Formats: sequence, C-alpha cells, structure tokens
Amino acid sequence: MGYKVKKDFLSIMDLQLGDIERVFSRAKAFKNGEKSSALSSKSVVLVFEKASTRTRVSFEVGIARLGGHPVILTPEASQMGRGEPIRDTARILSGYAHAIVMRTFGHSRIKQMAAWADVPVINALTDLLHPCQVLSDCFTLKQRFGELRGRKIAWVGDGNNMANSWINAAFMFGFELWIACPLGFEPKSEILDTAIARGAKVEIVRHPRDAVRDAIAVNTDVWASMGQEQEAISREEKFRGFQVDSRLMAAAAGDAVFMHCLPAHRGQEVSDEVLESPRSIVWEQALNRLYVQMALMELLMQERKR
Ligand code: CP
Ligand code: NVA
Repeated sequence: MGYKVKKDFLSIMDLQLGDIERVFSRAKAFKNGEKSSALSSKSVVLVFEKASTRTRVSFEVGIARLGGHPVILTPEASQMGRGEPIRDTARILSGYAHAIVMRTFGHSRIKQMAAWADVPVINALTDLLHPCQVLSDCFTLKQRFGELRGRKIAWVGDGNNMANSWINAAFMFGFELWIACPLGFEPKSEILDTAIARGAKVEIVRHPRDAVRDAIAVNTDVWASMGQEQEAISREEKFRGFQVDSRLMAAAAGDAVFMHCLPAHRGQEVSDEVLESPRSIVWEQALNRLYVQMALMELLMQERKR
C-alpha cells in the first residue's frame, strides 16, 4: 500500500531546488489556464485544527480542479477532537485517501501524522512553519522580480511561523533576509542557526528602517498568531513602532512591494493606507496559493502505485 517513495512537505527544506523550479513552472502553467487531471480518482483529507479561509478554500478548490475529491475534517466534527491519537488517525486516513493536508498547533503533531501516514502529508500551517504560504510568496516575487538571489527582502514584526519559513526560503533561494523584531520575539533559534550555518544571509535588527532599507519586498504578519489570542493586548504594547506604514515603505527600494499572508489587522501591523496601496500585492499572494498548491500536490502525489 502507499507510495514507492513518500514525499511529505512539512517545511520548504523538504524540497530540492529542482523540485521547486518544477512546482513554479507548473504553477505558472496553471495560472495561464492549463488543465490537469493529476488527482483523478484520488481523495485528499484536509485536517483543520485551526481556523482558515485562504488555505482551506485554495486547497479544496485546487483538489477539485485537478479532478480529485477533498474531504474536510475538523476536530469538533471528528474523533480527533475527542482524543483519538494522531498515530491511529494517520493510519486510517492513509487507507482512504491519497494525501493529507494538515493545519495544527504544535509542529510535533504534523510530524507524528507524517511518521504514521503512508501517504504524503502537507503542512497547511503549524505554530512553527507556514511553508505553503512562503513557497507561494516566493513564486509571487519571482514572477515580479525574476531571480531572487542576492536581493534584499524584509520582515517586520513577530518572529513567528511565517518568519521561520522565510528564513528557510532565504537559504533555498539565496536572497538576503532582514528581520526587524522586538527583543524577545525573534524567530526560532534552531531554524535561524541552521540556515546561517548552511550559508543563508539572515540579519536580525531592532529598527524596522534598517530592515527595509533598499528591500524589494516588505513583509509583515499579525502580532498575535492563532493560539496567542490571550497575549494580543500585551503584544500591542511591545510591537509599537513595528507598524508598516507609508513612511516605512518609503525607505524601501523604489519598486518595493508590500506583502502580508492575511488575515491582516489594519492599524496594527500595517496601516490601511499601505494595505490598500498600489504597492500592496496581498491579493495576488492569496490567489497564487491556489496554483502553487495545485503544482505541489501534482508533484507529491505522482508516485502512487496503488
Ligand atoms: N494566509 C493564510 O494561511 O490564510 P488562512 O488562515 O485564511 O488560511
Ligand atoms: N502567523 C499567523 C499566520 C496566519 C495565516 C498565524 O499563525 O495565525
């Protein structure tokens, strides 16, 4: 049963650059209207233990466009919410479906799912990483700027799951990543140290202006991620001065774009003016999720033997 070689996508580091180039080329083709029945007669279970709009809908629609059948599982409507172990769920789902897409809290939960499933597992966001979003964001940037190697990209705000995945992307694509975050809100040190040890150029600074100077893209995200709602008020205080507003965007490169994975909190991490400005490419980012994830599923699900 299962795949000859099962490929999971829990992190951008799980792919080779060649795989990514193939995914981007297929994503471009899908965006230009190419059709594929790569998932014909196949089912994909989407396990969502946290809220989602973009990820859930783009996966569900993408699976349908590839001729496949999406099945949504939420904790409240499944035995997972009543404590059935992941290792049992993983083996059951592997029998019915040809891939599992999972959004959850601790990264160890998706690692467990991947360890026990014998079908590909795709990370739709954990507390640690959001690789589908950042892979797609790099596709969006490459479509606009071409080669990213040696360019400067800025991250302003929390060193969260998005920031961690941007560090992995900096290693993979060879761009410089400048992260401005308040003291105590740095990205995960293991991810940062590993990337730097492998040659990635990542700088941590305290002033957003230092991070954005000459950057081609200014990225931010919410100050309190899902699961941190109780810290929202205290974080507002600590992140004061980290809002991406028009003055900050003016310090970036002349053709710089503003990026945000969404949902955004206008007036906190980004001003309404910047989010709605011509420099904002947030809608294009959200749209590209569909095409990049279709291409990713096509890649990961091609080696079925049953
Ligand atoms: N950007 C993103 O993952 O959005 P959702 O939480 O709506 O899926
Ligand atoms: N950092 C955010 C991303 C949402 C898509 C969160 O984890 O809630």
